[in-house]
Amino acid sequence: MKLLLRQIIPALFFIVFTLMSCTAESKTYPVSSPDGKIAIQFKAVKGELFYSVHKEGKQILFDSRLGFTFTKGDTFNKNFKILKTETSVFDKTWEQPWGESREVRNDYKELKIFLQETKGHKRYLNIIFRVFNDGYGFRYEFPEQPNLKDFEIAKENTEFHFAKQSNAWWIPAYKEAYYESLARYTTFSKMDTVCTPLTIETGDGKYLAIHEANLTDYAKMNLYPKDSVTLACDLSPWSNGIKVYATAPFVTPWRTMIIAENINELVTSNIMLNLNEPSEIIDMSWIKPGRYMGIWWEIHLEKYTWSSGPKHGATTTNTKAYIDFAAANGFSGVLVEGWNVGWDGDWTKNGLSLDFTKAYPDFDIKEVTDYAKSKGIELIGHHETAGMATHYQDQLDNAFGFYQGYGVHVVKTGYVNPKLDNKELHDGQFAVRHYRKVVETAAKYHIMIDNHEPVMPTGIQRTWPNLMTQEAIRGQEYDAWATDGGSPPDHTTVFPFLRGLAGPMDFTPGTFNFENPTRKDTRVRTTIAKQLALFVVVYSPLQMASDAPENYRGVRAFDFIKSVPTTWEKTVIPDAKIGDYAIFARKDRNSENWFMGCITDENARELSLNLSFLDKNATYIAHIYSDGEGANWKTNPTAVKYEEKEVNSMQIIQVALAPGGGCAIHYVKKK
Ligand code: NOJ
Repeated sequence: MKLLLRQIIPALFFIVFTLMSCTAESKTYPVSSPDGKIAIQFKAVKGELFYSVHKEGKQILFDSRLGFTFTKGDTFNKNFKILKTETSVFDKTWEQPWGESREVRNDYKELKIFLQETKGHKRYLNIIFRVFNDGYGFRYEFPEQPNLKDFEIAKENTEFHFAKQSNAWWIPAYKEAYYESLARYTTFSKMDTVCTPLTIETGDGKYLAIHEANLTDYAKMNLYPKDSVTLACDLSPWSNGIKVYATAPFVTPWRTMIIAENINELVTSNIMLNLNEPSEIIDMSWIKPGRYMGIWWEIHLEKYTWSSGPKHGATTTNTKAYIDFAAANGFSGVLVEGWNVGWDGDWTKNGLSLDFTKAYPDFDIKEVTDYAKSKGIELIGHHETAGMATHYQDQLDNAFGFYQGYGVHVVKTGYVNPKLDNKELHDGQFAVRHYRKVVETAAKYHIMIDNHEPVMPTGIQRTWPNLMTQEAIRGQEYDAWATDGGSPPDHTTVFPFLRGLAGPMDFTPGTFNFENPTRKDTRVRTTIAKQLALFVVVYSPLQMASDAPENYRGVRAFDFIKSVPTTWEKTVIPDAKIGDYAIFARKDRNSENWFMGCITDENARELSLNLSFLDKNATYIAHIYSDGEGANWKTNPTAVKYEEKEVNSMQIIQVALAPGGGCAIHYVKKK
């Protein structure tokens, strides 16, 4: 009898649940993560579209709206009926050519819903949900159909209706150019219109992060608080106000949410990468991560100029000296900015005359690249466009072909101008199309891209692995000239958990000299030990050591920069508190060694480092670079202590971080 009841009661529940969810108006269509913990339910209520999200029975999102409004008041979010649904499962592991981990498991369950309008043009729309163990993504698909061909999106109605209001880390959309903002931390209702990634602390040590994946021919998604628990999508518009021009068949980017149990899951989630297409580049032998230096920081410090004249930085002689130093210290490239004609006067207004193939007379590109080659170094090219995207796009083949002829394999692109072509946003559909065109064209010439002033990254590097790194961050250059004196020490304890979720960042750490002779009120607000730690915490497959050779010569701490890789076997975050401190550990791809970066905000603190990520039954020599006696970002940034210790995975070691300080450790496995 007991057995019978045990079988009957769940069956009854199932029938009641199914009946409840099958009422004509609101039948629900569920899909769950492979481990069954995250559950999404889709439903159409009186023809309007909604989805909700649970994790382990706990509501994360209540019914949240889906759909579109086209231009001319044409709504595409009601009167829908569900034609059919399809479910599928997927589980494959793929390898990244470079990245924060070698292997990426792509393991999800998919639900595809086929919809049709019941009135008017009877147009079709499909929605695809993919649920992973650490979150989900969904996208809209406009299939080929007789009554929808060319259309214009005036609004995407996607919403996130949370079960409760939480605190979130964010940067504003629209207000501060190029995403070069300091993060804010507020409740939902105090948020502006914000960019994604948006990182939410749910108050129980868990995290949610909303972003998007595979932004290919669409506008960037921003979010605004519709009320204290609902965040609604706001697409970056074209200058005429239209959000997106589309022609069916057409798909939108994926809207993604990481649902993380802890900070490690938040940072190591691969949902964004998994929702991009596999590589379009088959032969990737020319795509190589590396470490570079450049004629750059000294320009920002105004010791040199981009333009010609007595302080011109990009001279043949100067570049050769950089090449000598880079070669002697195991770097792969030297960036040179300002070698090409067009920087004189206010270069930010010179977009149409910045020349991509003509050198200033004191820079001989042939001599420089021949010399670099003889030393095993490559010149890193530079295309500053001052935002004149169309002008640049018209010359792309020429410009990349020119560099290719000189053996250049990396080009840093730049778009300093709040509007592209003086009118379009950096993250509207115009910009998205332009940046993609650049990456695809660069690939034809075997050129890797470091894109400054880009659209916020969305994982395109899976498809185009020559898109190495991007800015979209308030980089260390601000510490040379920002009117507020430079970024506060807690900036670096926030952005790895916010902008960092969108992919590699060309933050340019590596300052060893903290005095700025031209602008005494600015400085890099860290210690040297923290600068070292940033090489581990901030991921970039092309990582710049930004200071001048003279500041590295003879400094012991420079050994850490020389040894730290730029592509990793795996990454773990043993501990962090956003805005206060962060500990990142990463295993080298080409050895058994690990590297660790620990950073703090303006407060000194002791951190306990749990070494359980190291191989069991192995011993490592830890080469520890920590803040020296009396170190302090303000008064004594250069005091660094070096020590070696034998450690193993059972240990918890203590490190003391100075105000604005850090600690960098290289764990070398003993044979
Ligand atoms: C802004 C970039 O972020 C910086 O790295 C570059 O030096 C200047 N533009 C000039 O292109």
